Amino acid sequence: QTEPAAPSQCVGPEYRPNAQKPTATVSTEVSHENVHILPQTPQLIALLTMIRDKNTNRADFIFYSNRIIRLLVEEGLNHLPVVEHTISTPVGRTYSGVKFEGKICGVSIMRAGEAMEQGLRDCCRSVRIGKILIQRDEETSKPKLFYDKLPEDISDRWVLLLDPMLATGGSALMAVDVLISRGVPEERILFLNLIASPEGAVNFAQKFPKVRVVTAFVDMGLNEKNYIVPGLGDFGDRFYTM
Ligand code: URA
Repeated sequence: QTEPAAPSQCVGPEYRPNAQKPTATVSTEVSHENVHILPQTPQLIALLTMIRDKNTNRADFIFYSNRIIRLLVEEGLNHLPVVEHTISTPVGRTYSGVKFEGKICGVSIMRAGEAMEQGLRDCCRSVRIGKILIQRDEETSKPKLFYDKLPEDISDRWVLLLDPMLATGGSALMAVDVLISRGVPEERILFLNLIASPEGAVNFAQKFPKVRVVTAFVDMGLNEKNYIVPGLGDFGDRFYTM
């Protein structure tokens, strides 16, 4: 007896059981408590489908990437500490809520991470943002720190580290080393990322188990050129130039 065909149009957050979804739309599982994958809603998969499509033009790529970045920032902010805070409403009632506690800053890994700065500013008005430039050393082929500009009081802040693609993890791991060398405790670093490779996510979780990684999706793997597959190509090129 054959299974009934899955309907071509499905509605609702649980739009299909995972077993009925195309494999590439089901995020790879990473079993580490500090790797947080966004809820896999139809919205998110539709946004990812737009930015993965090689025929998506630059304006749409920017628009749909920004929507995912916004989701990542909002989820990242859920990992910051809050304290109880009671206010009065205009109708004479008190409301026992919470408020954010602690200072934050963003740090973008240049150049692609800079694409995530606006999404952070949209959620956190006048947030301080630092930058780190890491490139491959021509002689050793290893990642090398070329430039950094970080808030002088960064050791007192929670840091939202921004880089859209976590491939091997080389640059992001070095960026975390830089932050730790400036006195930021590992547990106060949140790495926000659109698409991760399983290798990159596992490398990260093994080297820095206390850094929280918030990602929209964990893809299938890396190709021979260390591009994420199925991926979306070069994020920086598509956001800034194509
Ligand atoms: N950086 C990108 O922009 N894309 C990849 O697939 C990997 C790293």
